[in-house]
Amino acid sequence: MLKMIAPVGIVTALVAANLLSGFQKGDAAKGKETFEQCAVCHNTDSTEKKMGPGLKGLFKHEKLSNGKPVNEANVRAIINTGGNGMPAYESILSDEEKDNIIAYLKTL
Ligand code: HEC
Repeated sequence: MLKMIAPVGIVTALVAANLLSGFQKGDAAKGKETFEQCAVCHNTDSTEKKMGPGLKGLFKHEKLSNGKPVNEANVRAIINTGGNGMPAYESILSDEEKDNIIAYLKTL
């Protein structure tokens, strides 16, 4: 009987931990506001190019246009360093604002 219950407990704990870290890791609604400064160059409702690529479904894609896999670290690196026409936001945005933007990008 215990063998049956233990895995359920572990899964519940993992789900709870995920939810908690999800809540701490940035606020998509705030990210949307911060993203206004990015929206001059990026569409969010399509993948159509403005100045930069449209970001709809970004986190559902496999790769970024630089060939790297789409994940938080690589998207954050692009935001920080920019390049090829994209400004570097390393010192313009706080870590929290970047977390919020990434949370927002995940909803697109
Ligand atoms: C002045 C225009 C401009 C602004 C403002 C801008 N970007 Fe970009 N962005 C670009 C361009 C151009 C590229 C493509 C760079 C390349 O091809 O290497 C790009 C690429 C990206 C990519 C990679 C997309 C992909 O599929 O590879 C992400 C993510 C991104 N920008 C996010 C942001 C975020 C978040 C902001 C605001 C904090 C922002 N950008 C502001 C021009 C801009």
